[in-house]
Amino acid sequence: MTLLRGADAAPLLAALHDRAEPGHGWSRDAFCRMLAMPGAFAIATPDGFVLARTAADSAEILMLAVLPVARRHGLGRRLLDQAMAEAGAAGAREMFLEVAEGNRAARALYAAAGFAGVGRRPRYYADGTDALLLRRPLSPCGN
Ligand SMILES: CC(C)(COP(=O)(O)OP(=O)(O)OC[C@H]1O[C@@H](n2cnc3c(N)ncnc32)[C@H](O)[C@@H]1OP(=O)(O)O)[C@@H](O)C(=O)NCCC(=O)NCCS
Repeated sequence: MTLLRGADAAPLLAALHDRAEPGHGWSRDAFCRMLAMPGAFAIATPDGFVLARTAADSAEILMLAVLPVARRHGLGRRLLDQAMAEAGAAGAREMFLEVAEGNRAARALYAAAGFAGVGRRPRYYADGTDALLLRRPLSPCGN
């Protein structure tokens, strides 16, 4: 797993995302903008990545994606755990994320990792579906 910071990582993440979610991947520009935000970081492997950011004592998962051929082998969980460890080490004490209500795989992963619902954003996504806002406390020791 490689920790990446800065806009130079945008082409790599855009290419990975395009393979993980064909037709739904974010553009290079979108990744550039995300990576330019203060506290933004990514953790990447050849089969998937997580993009997150820390701001003061809280952190946010911006994207997590694993290639279809690599799913259900624990990579999503390892990426998530690594992002939580990185954010905790940077001083964040809680992590938030948004997930589509109908995304069963991601919701199961986040629930298993200790995230709990704290809100709902109606019609958050372009297709009109709601997002659930999830939160998990973080510890400086990465668990
Ligand atoms: C969500 C995603 C990242 C999961 O990656 P993954 O590498 O397959 O996840 P893991 O193998 O680490 O799974 C960990 C746990 O999550 C749950 N889970 C993962 N995929 C699941 C599925 N399709 N159905 C039900 N539970 C699932 C299980 O509890 C799993 O543990 P188990 O395999 O021991 O049962 C992957 O499906 C993906 O990239 N989806 C498209 C992008 C996306 O939706 N990202 C989330 C945006 S918020």
